[in-house]
Amino acid sequence: MNEFDKVRIYGDEILRRKAEDISDFGGELNDLTEHMVEILFAYNGIGLAAPQVGLSSRVVVIDQSLGEEVDDIITLVNPAIEIFPGECTIEEGCLSVPGIWEEVVRPERIVCRYHDLEGNPRELEANGMLARIIQHEVDHLEGILFVDRLSSVKRQLLARRLRELQEPEE
Ligand code: CO
Repeated sequence: MNEFDKVRIYGDEILRRKAEDISDFGGELNDLTEHMVEILFAYNGIGLAAPQVGLSSRVVVIDQSLGEEVDDIITLVNPAIEIFPGECTIEEGCLSVPGIWEEVVRPERIVCRYHDLEGNPRELEANGMLARIIQHEVDHLEGILFVDRLSSVKRQLLARRLRELQEPEE
């Protein structure tokens, strides 16, 4: 197991970095996304951003079937989100913040503009759970974690558990 085979956990500084745009579409990007999909499945996740596997690049993989089907992965390269008015509350978790699930308020409907693996510009309109996952993953590229989006009261209630993630006992 090398350093890229493990999901980075809360407290790892790479999760707080703004990730870099991808400008080379080719073999390396394909290798990275293939690896990310492997990790996503290994951890039974539905979304993963490159910083979570230790690479500060603007790449996200999402299982559009939300765990229902074997192969319905969408890869978003250099994604940017435009939001529509209207919010909703959905419970979120994160492979980088294991064991914590909290309701988060976010815009309900979005358009995501991104590049596919060949570098073609694409657009995806989404609402509900898919819109939620895209927003969560794109946050990762900005160094933002879902717990940052909780109220300060909720964050205070979680402070101890977050500290334990950050400083695991030997
Ligand atoms: Co996450």
